Amino acid sequence: MESERIIISGATSGIGCEIAKLYIGNGYKVGVMGRRIELLNELKEKSPENVFVQQLDINSDDATTNFQTLIDSMGGMDIYFHVSGIGYQNVHLDYDKELRTAETNCKGFTRMITYAFNYFEQQGKGHIACITSIAGTKGLGVSPAYSATKRYQNHYIQCMAQLATIRKVKITFTDIRPGFVATDLLNDNHNYPMLMKKEFVAQEAYKAVARKRRVKIIDWRYNLLVTAWKLIPNCVWERLPIKN
Ligand SMILES: NC(=O)c1ccc[n+]([C@@H]2O[C@H](COP(=O)([O-])OP(=O)(O)OC[C@H]3O[C@@H](n4cnc5c(N)ncnc54)[C@H](OP(=O)(O)O)[C@@H]3O)[C@@H](O)[C@H]2O)c1
Repeated sequence: MESERIIISGATSGIGCEIAKLYIGNGYKVGVMGRRIELLNELKEKSPENVFVQQLDINSDDATTNFQTLIDSMGGMDIYFHVSGIGYQNVHLDYDKELRTAETNCKGFTRMITYAFNYFEQQGKGHIACITSIAGTKGLGVSPAYSATKRYQNHYIQCMAQLATIRKVKITFTDIRPGFVATDLLNDNHNYPMLMKKEFVAQEAYKAVARKRRVKIIDWRYNLLVTAWKLIPNCVWERLPIKN
């Protein structure tokens, strides 16, 4: 039987790199993308026959051309896993950080997800998975662009799921929402509670995709937290000085 083909964007470090290692270890044909090609080549060394490398910046105009090049080199794609993303705590509202976050997490994200959707529509089936965040659940004042762009991603995936119904396409969607994970993204000298290991988060994400879960919050503690947050009325929420 042919092995399934998965393409992961943002496989150079953190959660995406751990997810790529899991798929490689489980015998998938794995396409890995990101800007730091040397880190992608390290993944290829793990299984030269089954790992396909493509340097790609999701914010660049040639991103979709490069994406298609990788799809072609793998003989097709069954699952697209979008992990690429950036984020900052930005209480001083550094303009550049806000705009860069919006560009990567909204524009770059949309570029890649719409391309994958259209590709899967032509193919007749496929699966789109994405690492978003629990940060999209409520507006977080310490990270405005990050929180808002993660909400955008949650919402966009829901739109795509309904669009697939309207267009009668068999595409599965999995929105994975972790709480705090110890990766370079949080390497900013702040104190993060309930920090999870990237290896654990990758395993939970892998299982959620295998089980075709529509939404998965990682882990159970964050699931409870998010449930509680949702019950707080906005007029109260906006008066809570939530920071770390
Ligand atoms: N850490 C957390 O607490 C946490 C919690 C919830 C959700 N998340 C989400 O998890 C995802 C991965 O983050 P991480 O925590 O694993 O941090 P990370 O180690 O910094 O990984 C970020 C990944 O995104 C890629 N990326 C960033 N900009 C890109 C661009 N323009 N084009 C292509 N790839 C790009 C990076 O690759 P290159 O730099 O090589 O391009 C890297 O592989 C993000 O979407 C993040 O929002 C993280």
